[in-house]
Amino acid sequence: MGVSSNDPLLLRAARGEQVDRPPVWMMRQAGRYMKAYRDLREKYPSFRERSEIPDVAIAVSLQPWRAFQPDGVILFSDIVTPLPGMGIDMDIAEGKGPIIFNPIRTQQQVDQLHLLEPDTALPFIKPILTSLREEVGNQSTVLGFVGAPWTLAAYAVEGKGSKTYSVIKNMAFSDPSILHQLLKKFAESIAVYVRYQIDCGAQVVQMFDSWAGQLSPQDYDTFAVPYQKMVFDLVKQTHPNTPLILLVTGSAGLLERMATSGADIITVDWTVDMADARTRLGENIKVQGNLDPGVLFGSQDFIRDRVIDTVRKAGNWGHILNLGHGVLPETPEDNVRFFFETAKQITYLP
Ligand code: CP3
Repeated sequence: MGVSSNDPLLLRAARGEQVDRPPVWMMRQAGRYMKAYRDLREKYPSFRERSEIPDVAIAVSLQPWRAFQPDGVILFSDIVTPLPGMGIDMDIAEGKGPIIFNPIRTQQQVDQLHLLEPDTALPFIKPILTSLREEVGNQSTVLGFVGAPWTLAAYAVEGKGSKTYSVIKNMAFSDPSILHQLLKKFAESIAVYVRYQIDCGAQVVQMFDSWAGQLSPQDYDTFAVPYQKMVFDLVKQTHPNTPLILLVTGSAGLLERMATSGADIITVDWTVDMADARTRLGENIKVQGNLDPGVLFGSQDFIRDRVIDTVRKAGNWGHILNLGHGVLPETPEDNVRFFFETAKQITYLP
C-alpha cells in the first residue's frame, strides 16, 4: 500500500504491514519516574489540572517524546476522565487513584446517567490531540486510550480502587440487571469517546480493562467481553481502519477470550512467555508487550537480553514492543532511555 508508506512505524505495524523493526513505546511513559513530570507536578498539584488544561497535558504528553522519541506518544489523561461528562463526579487523589463521590449502587442512579458528549464535556481533548499530531508529525504515532466498561464500572460502583471488588461482585452475582444496564451505558459512551479521539487525531486507541483479570473466565465472558466487543464493534462501524488494542491486567488465563473481543492487538503481560502467547492467539492477532516493568531495574546487559528475547519470540510481524504494564514510578530514567535505544537498534532479519 503505497499511500501508507509515509505513515509512522507503529501505525503500520499495528495494521499488520511488514516493517523493519518492532515499534516501541511504554505504557505510562509520561509520569512520576520522570523528573520533568515531578517538577511540573509541583506547579500543578492536581491531576485534573495536569490532564485537563490543554497546554499542561500537551507538555506532559511530550515529555517522554522529547526525552526518548518513542514510536508512540499517548494522550496524557486518565480512564476516569470522561465520567463527569456522564454524570459521575470524581477526582484523582495523589498516590491513590480515582475517587467517585457518589458510587453507583441503585437503578435510579443508573437511569440518571447520560450519554457522553465529548465536544462539550471534554473540551480539552481536541486541542491536546491536535497539538500532539502537529508536534510529532510522521515521526511517531499518536495513541488515544479509554477505560473499558467493566473497569469503569468497578470504579463507579466501588467508589475507588479495590483489592477484592466485593461491592461490584456483590452486584454482579446478586443483582446483575442493574450492572448490565450500567455496563451498556458505559459501552455506548466509551464508543462515542473512542470515535471522538480518532476524529481529533488519535491513530491507534488502546482500551484498558485493567480490572477484568479479577473475574473468573466464565464471569469475564459475561461481564467483560460483551461490553468490550460492543465498544469495538461500534467503533469499527464508523472507523474500520483504526487499530484497537486491548489490555487486561493479569490476563494469562484469558488471552484466548480477549481475542474474541474484536481487538486487533492484544497486550500480553510478563506472566506469559511471548512465544506461548503467539501460539495461543494464532496468526491473525497482533501482540503488544511484554517485558516485566521490573526488568528496567536491571543492568543494561540484562535489559538488552530481555528486549531481544521478547522480540525474537514475538517474530517479525505484528508486534508492538512494550512493557507488560505501566513503567514503575521508581524506574531510573537512564534505563528507560537505554530500553528505547536498544529497541530502535533492532532490525528484523529478512
Ligand atoms: O502519559 C501516559 O502514559 C498516560 C498515562 C495514564 C494515566 N492513567 C495517567 C495517570 C494512563 C494510560 C492511565 C490509565 C489508567 N488510570 C488506568 C489503566 C492503566 C492501568 O494501569 O491498568 C487505570 C487503572 C487508572 C486509574 C488510576 N489513575 C490509578 C490506579 C492511578 C494511580 C494512583 C497512583 O498514584 O499510583 C491513577 C492516577 C494516575 N493516572 C497517575 C498517572 C500518571 C499517577 C498520578 C501522578 O503521577 O500524579
